[in-house]
Amino acid sequence: MNWWKNLKGKVILREPLKKHTSFKIGGPAKFFIMPYAIADLKFIIASAKSSKLPISVIGAGSNILVNDKGVEAIVLQLNSPFFKRISCKRNYLKTSCGVTVGKLIQEAGEHNLSGLEFLAGIPGTIGGALAMNAGAWGKNIGDLVENVQVMDYDGNVKTLDKREIKFGYRSSNLEKFIILDARLKLAKRNKKEITRQIKKYLAHRRNTQDKSLPNAGCVFKNPSYKSAGRLIDLCGLKGKRVGGACVSGRHGNFIMNCGNASANDVLKLMGLIKKRVRNKFNVILEPEIKIWQ
Ligand code: EPU
Repeated sequence: MNWWKNLKGKVILREPLKKHTSFKIGGPAKFFIMPYAIADLKFIIASAKSSKLPISVIGAGSNILVNDKGVEAIVLQLNSPFFKRISCKRNYLKTSCGVTVGKLIQEAGEHNLSGLEFLAGIPGTIGGALAMNAGAWGKNIGDLVENVQVMDYDGNVKTLDKREIKFGYRSSNLEKFIILDARLKLAKRNKKEITRQIKKYLAHRRNTQDKSLPNAGCVFKNPSYKSAGRLIDLCGLKGKRVGGACVSGRHGNFIMNCGNASANDVLKLMGLIKKRVRNKFNVILEPEIKIWQ
């Protein structure tokens, strides 16, 4: 009856998700599973269907707010060695979904491959970055994609060409699949130049963003032609606190866990911010972080 006993990967029951989110917030997952490879994934999908349990995939947990009660779901983290492979051929880099953004940037640099530098300092895995088309400084990871191999929720593996993938602002149609790996097209460049560029992006990030406490980066999407952070700042909300959650004093669009914040504290603070920005600027802010209810 205990279907998970047949898996080769690691299974944890009632795992607190706060251990896996950059916010350090979130109740337990019914099943937290780190599958070994493809066969495990297929088995989990089939078992989830027969147990009528939803599946969610977590990367580095750097862009999600998980509710305090937790989730009656199977949460997958694809971080076994199989899901962390990187290979390089000419100016193409093939990466599995569990590779961290930082590791991929480093590996690209080792091969004199340029194109990923703008992502320097963005936490997360390649799977997460692709699903939400992570970006900064006007560039997005989707621009580099040649193809992505995915598994659908019937267990079928297929390769989606870039023409079949719709990348939007912090969104993509890859979110309805389990992302397995991707082929990215980069450009040959001198390693020193790449390192210089990375340092520039990291310094810019250090100067404008806030890493002093657990957070999930920008909480709201930027409304068109505006910066959500600036609007929140202009409402005088920097430092505003609800329970253990507070608006960063450095960047208006960052909510920090400044002491045992609950998901509810963050949601209440988001509600308050939305209301103030709507009243002052007539702008409706949309969450950029994924909220797991
Ligand atoms: N600003 C303020 N006050 C603030 C924050 C910002 O006046 O409290 C001003 C800044 O001075 C600047 C403008 O607003 O003139 C834009 O700010 P910033 O350069 O910090 O960029 P952003 O629009 O707030 C976006 C992304 C970030 C990404 C940066 C850098 C979104 C929601 N945010 O932030 O992404 O790192 O650009 O490209 O798209 C994330 O995805 O989690 C994230 C943080």
